[in-house]
Amino acid sequence: MNILGINGSPRPAGHTGTLIGDVLAGAAEAGAATELFQLGRMTVSPCIDCDGCRATARCVLEDDNQRFYGAVAEARAPRGLVIGTPIYLDHVSAQLKVWIDRLHAYNYTKLGNFMFPDGFRAVLVVTYGAADPHLYDFVVDWLAGLIEDRKVARVVDRIVLPGTQRLPISLPEDVRQRARQIGRRLAT
Ligand SMILES: Cc1cc2nc3c(=O)[nH]c(=O)nc-3n(C[C@H](O)[C@H](O)[C@H](O)COP(=O)(O)O)c2cc1C
Repeated sequence: MNILGINGSPRPAGHTGTLIGDVLAGAAEAGAATELFQLGRMTVSPCIDCDGCRATARCVLEDDNQRFYGAVAEARAPRGLVIGTPIYLDHVSAQLKVWIDRLHAYNYTKLGNFMFPDGFRAVLVVTYGAADPHLYDFVVDWLAGLIEDRKVARVVDRIVLPGTQRLPISLPEDVRQRARQIGRRLAT
């Protein structure tokens, strides 16, 4: 695997999941091996500040996030993350926040031996119901800053889709094409 998708929406085939899927499809077209982590279908417990990672250089919570840690360790270049979330009550989903907190394991070991491999690039996918295309720039900026400041990855693209309130789910074709193109770039 070299491009890993993380969907923070509980709806695997919702707006966020579809766009993450498009990025991964583009990456696969360009030859990348991809894997999608559907947080809504996984058991990922919140960090309990047990300091286990400080002692062992790995997160000691034995749940489905171990699959993610394993995929990170095995990822070959070009390495990429596609991190997506819907906006829930003005911020990232609870599912994504729990996953973010679990990056803490890498943060601690950074003091001695930082485990997150170098060279990851990241694409962010954020969708929400409100119409204003800049309403949640503060969330997207926060997420990008966090991913970069913690030296997880360099954020190379952002896909922000407002106005997702209407059902059934229908995504603008130009946004889906752009997502594929971004995926192709991520894989090269
Ligand atoms: C619990 C909940 C809270 C939400 N809060 C907001 C919000 O604060 N602002 C907003 O614009 N949309 C909000 N929405 C709408 C979602 O962000 C939007 O429908 C999103 O695109 C859903 O993504 P998905 O289709 O990938 O699940 C909320 C939806 C839910 C279920």
